[in-house]
Amino acid sequence: MTDPALAPETPRDRALRSLTAARDRTTLLTTCVEDPDLTAQHSPLMSPLVWDLAHIGNQEEQWLLRRVGGQEALRPEIDSLYDAFEHPRAERPSLPLLPPDEARRYTAEVRARVLDVLESTVFHGTRLTEAGFVFGMIAQHEQQHDETMLITHQLRKGPQALTAPDPEPAPPFTGPSEVLVPGGPFTMGTSTEPWALDNERPAHVREVPPFWIDTTPVTNGAYLAFIEDGGYSDPRWWTPDGWAHIRRHGITAPLYWRRDGGQWLRRRFGVVEAVPPEEPVLHVCWYEADAYARWAGRRLPTEAEWEKAARHDPATGRSMRYPWGDDDPAPHHANLGQRHLRPAPAGSYPAGASPLGVRQLIGDVWEWTASDFLPYPGFTAFPYKEYSEVFFGPEYKVLRGGSFAVDPVACRGTFRNWDYPIRRQIFSGFRTARSEDS
Ligand code: AVJ
Ligand code: FE
Repeated sequence: MTDPALAPETPRDRALRSLTAARDRTTLLTTCVEDPDLTAQHSPLMSPLVWDLAHIGNQEEQWLLRRVGGQEALRPEIDSLYDAFEHPRAERPSLPLLPPDEARRYTAEVRARVLDVLESTVFHGTRLTEAGFVFGMIAQHEQQHDETMLITHQLRKGPQALTAPDPEPAPPFTGPSEVLVPGGPFTMGTSTEPWALDNERPAHVREVPPFWIDTTPVTNGAYLAFIEDGGYSDPRWWTPDGWAHIRRHGITAPLYWRRDGGQWLRRRFGVVEAVPPEEPVLHVCWYEADAYARWAGRRLPTEAEWEKAARHDPATGRSMRYPWGDDDPAPHHANLGQRHLRPAPAGSYPAGASPLGVRQLIGDVWEWTASDFLPYPGFTAFPYKEYSEVFFGPEYKVLRGGSFAVDPVACRGTFRNWDYPIRRQIFSGFRTARSEDS
């Protein structure tokens, strides 16, 4: 007899589970503060939380009810309010947004109808619904906005609204500080992962020369040595743009850090605490990551190097879904899914290490790479140009691996994130690399 609990999950079950998990998280993030905190703009960089809430519902309505279900618009007049391209974040508070209760009713009404559409949709025949792709896309979209809302919670001044247990303390990491990734071809991107988004496709072979990469993300302690060595006042370490940026804005430490006499403090979700030296550094921009690497006599890994370190199995030559293999992420592999409200100490999650022993590639902190956000050879926009295509170009740098705030549904060895090189309110850190012959 096969145990039904061990039967593989069907795409339809996965879609339902993923949509439900996303909604549970959205509910937590929009009920842990009072309504005035939902409509306030906590930073010009971010939308009011109530905008994200109704935007989540509106995207779900457009794709799952109208496009897949063939239904009429529930409230056609609100589409333009929640179109991210029509209204930049800074002006969203002045729009006639749905108030919190109406936004909640609207997103709940959409979801109730989606559950019927999900039951009746055929998962074969069209690319949009194949293996439940569009349902997975919408679950990922909601989780991405949940991370965005968590960023807003971190920016928000005032007492703590969210709590979570800390990660397990880890013994000090005693392994090698870097590992050599052998040169040669590897397969980058994917053509088989059913819910991979357009910019992760297609799979293609890249020739990557041998390089060394840090075993763990750069820690607060290591970053502090850069600060104490005068790193922020020495233009040698900075690109001209980076130097101009930190000078103009008076940047002398990661966002949320403050020196208090002899020690460094940071604010984390409403609590001020000492900066923990063994934790991966968080809230640095690309310019800071790049400058630290140059100071350390190293450089940021390219996006291809990062993905080769994360997916290449030297024993088989195959690219795996994750550093640990092809299994979906579980809690012992990585710090994902907002189970914790901070990265885990460097060297945590030995079970999530790559075959060469590189740790914490997935989870903890988004890792800046040296690379611009560009399409892979053979890229085609799917199902809409505004997800990836309109962002391709040199203005955006790629981040990889996902933070503690990323849900497993929106995290893969192939997953690509991108942002401006000045951004640091995101949950960003980095690791460094060097070419074999340097
Ligand atoms: C992929 C995280 C850059 O938040 O701007 C959300 C994801 N796209 N709604 C973003 C996204 C449309 C996107 N990032
Ligand atoms: Fe969106």
